[in-house]
Amino acid sequence: MGASSWPSAVELSDAKKKVAEMSGRDVGDVRVVISPYRICPLGAHIDHQGGTVLAMTVNKGIILAFVPSYDSQAQLCSRQFAGEVKFRVDEEQLPSMHVKEKNYDWGSYARGALYALQKTGNKLCKGILGFISGSDGLDSSGLSSSAAVGIACLLALESANNLSMSPSENIELDKLIENSYLGLRNGILDQSAILLSKYGYLTLMDCKTKEHTFVSSSMLDGSKGPEGANKYKILLAFSGLKHCLKDNPGYNCRVAECQEAARILLCASGAQSVEPRLCEVEPSIFEAQKHKLKANLAKRAEHYFSENKRVIEGVKAWASGNLLEFGKLIAASGLSSIQNYECGCEPMIQLYEILMRTPGIFGARFSGAGFRGCCLAFVDADQADEATAFVQKEYAKAQPDLSSQALGGRVVMLCDAGDSACVI
Ligand code: GLA
Repeated sequence: MGASSWPSAVELSDAKKKVAEMSGRDVGDVRVVISPYRICPLGAHIDHQGGTVLAMTVNKGIILAFVPSYDSQAQLCSRQFAGEVKFRVDEEQLPSMHVKEKNYDWGSYARGALYALQKTGNKLCKGILGFISGSDGLDSSGLSSSAAVGIACLLALESANNLSMSPSENIELDKLIENSYLGLRNGILDQSAILLSKYGYLTLMDCKTKEHTFVSSSMLDGSKGPEGANKYKILLAFSGLKHCLKDNPGYNCRVAECQEAARILLCASGAQSVEPRLCEVEPSIFEAQKHKLKANLAKRAEHYFSENKRVIEGVKAWASGNLLEFGKLIAASGLSSIQNYECGCEPMIQLYEILMRTPGIFGARFSGAGFRGCCLAFVDADQADEATAFVQKEYAKAQPDLSSQALGGRVVMLCDAGDSACVI
């Protein structure tokens, strides 16, 4: 895990001991998948349209300690969630059954991982006996805990069955879990960040070509000594909202609107046979034809095209160590999510606004889809404590009930950069 400070030796050893007890095997036989959470400072909501995104992992996430079973039985328990998940890996997993029952328990990701592996022609014969433990209180927080669990399950099942998959293959497998098994029409931002990130770099992912590069900067590279390191902290501010609001139009609805905007723009330029995604539309066509879009569709497309530009500018700002400029772009991205993409909800917007007037903050935006969970911010490392106290106080005033539910009453968590997922 490179220079990432997570997970701690104690966390690893506790999880291994738990699996040794469950399985009756030696602690030394227990393997562990480390699957970090991700943030996306720029490139929000454009991955599903083939846009380009900037991501990194943080030093928090999921660990899955496991041993391969002697037979096909998979059995998992969790530190955070009740119940035990049991299934046989040689029995076929069907998404339709699952979706009809709306049975979105935490075990869905493990079953979904098996589904994805089966769907791509892999016959598994060994199950796993495992224990999943997530960093405290961070599930459903917009940090992509679902992709982290999905990837952890994929890597554990692959390791137990001696299947060797590249990160690109696992990106596609996780896409099958989310899109086909769970029915969420999301893009590949989350799993790309988790599988590809490298400590010391930002990952730039083109979600159309699926090619990625790393952007280095003295701001993130600890090896450059005190001058380069610790210029900033990642501040996560939790809204206390863990579920989508009832009247929320939802993630899939926005994806459909983007596609509809793309379809109209492609038709207007004589390219009606092209798959309707906004990455297929030239920015000049958007400018020339946007009057053909209804107001809501024009806003979704505006978000897409402006966000792609912010990503390109963000790469330059990051590479040259210009945190002020990088922060301004993050803030503009946050505003576009609110005004153009129209996601989020009142508490998340309040949190964004509080962060934007917090001392030491370079820029802030919703983390993840923004319908719940947390906002992320980049904060001057020297002012991180002052900023924490300010956000805590202001959000408690704005949302007394929700703030007390956030992280056991704590609204803010400070993190550092992380590394990619791996099995140890
Ligand atoms: C969620 C989705 C991602 C991405 C983000 C918004 O995390 O899973 O694919 O669209 O929202 O950027």
